[in-house]
Amino acid sequence: MKTDFTVQEHVPLADKTTLKIGGAARFFVEAKDRTEVVEAVRFAEEKRLEIFILGGGSNVLIADEGFPGLVLHINLKGIGLGDKIDESVRVTAQAGEDWDEFVKFCVVEDLAGIETLSGIPGCVGGTPVQNVGAYGQEVSETISSVDVFDRRLKRFDVLLNAQCNFRYRTSIFNTTEKNRYIVLAVTYDLTPGGEPKIVYADLKKYFGGRKPTLPEARRAVIEIRRAKSMVIDEHDPNSRSAGSFFKNPIVSGAEFAEISENARSAKIESVPHYLMDDASVKIPAAWLIENAGFHKGFRRGKAGLSTRHTLAVVNLGGAAARDILDLKEEIQKTVKSVFGVTLETEPVFVGFGRK
Ligand code: EPU
Repeated sequence: MKTDFTVQEHVPLADKTTLKIGGAARFFVEAKDRTEVVEAVRFAEEKRLEIFILGGGSNVLIADEGFPGLVLHINLKGIGLGDKIDESVRVTAQAGEDWDEFVKFCVVEDLAGIETLSGIPGCVGGTPVQNVGAYGQEVSETISSVDVFDRRLKRFDVLLNAQCNFRYRTSIFNTTEKNRYIVLAVTYDLTPGGEPKIVYADLKKYFGGRKPTLPEARRAVIEIRRAKSMVIDEHDPNSRSAGSFFKNPIVSGAEFAEISENARSAKIESVPHYLMDDASVKIPAAWLIENAGFHKGFRRGKAGLSTRHTLAVVNLGGAAARDILDLKEEIQKTVKSVFGVTLETEPVFVGFGRK
């Protein structure tokens, strides 16, 4: 039996996030095994506290007032390499494993499927929640199942890929079943000796038609991300961010025609876009922001935009959550008035009350 389950109080959260913003957690538990997860849930329920699950802190904005409930940091560790079945190998990583270390492990093991997701900050447990994706891959392509604690039915469960309802940056975990499941481990089906997926324009350009190895693909992605300041680096003030602050809007063909018309009224010839499988259209939010007048390196007090990418809202030093929200609102309002598109935010907002 374990004995060292502890609940800490008034724990500052800013340093546990990449934006370095936010107040304290009223209660804080670092769960090192599944029993501690269950104990933490029981503690919160007895005290009627809300629970926020904190992983790597790379995709959150915490309110200046902090969080009045229980912050549960999942620190479950371990990677299990399964046997080869058909053409794939099943690998299970516990939720608290560092995502990029896990990608590196798989690349070294010559397992293909998540190599272009190199250099992304955060933990394994966060990846199914927002269906992490970059440079042509999404975790939904390789996740076979997710181990969870079901807070509603008070039991452990295993959800198969199809039950997670993965879409662009969403799953049941951040939509229909928000706050119900706590992710404990994720199992990926990877391809031994597989080729890296080189479909994203930046990567194709990098290799110029050559077929790279998995480690080469990983190195290239990290280099490209670094050039956009999308790798956490304490010497790079641009990386004091939550990565992309807005999602790339997905609109219908008719809406896209309207947006293009609005752009022409603003003397902009054409709007970059990607056609999706279902004939909807994805527009780069970074382009909309830039062309609505927010240049790279834009500053508004202590908040600003990365000098390398307009999608990253940056804490320029000492920013409060309010400063970030003010800039977010200014951007949303301006993009809406120029192009007629509503930009949705990507990070999780914690402690701002129910909206
Ligand atoms: N662009 C600009 N200005 C900029 C940067 C980009 O106009 O400052 C335009 C360019 O037209 C460029 C386009 O935006 O071609 C797309 O830019 P990029 O290739 O950098 O990708 P993104 O759509 O901005 C998405 C993800 C990133 C992911 C990259 C690579 C979202 C919200 N973001 O960014 O994910 O790394 O693709 O696949 O889907 C994250 O979610 O936190 C994240 C970093």
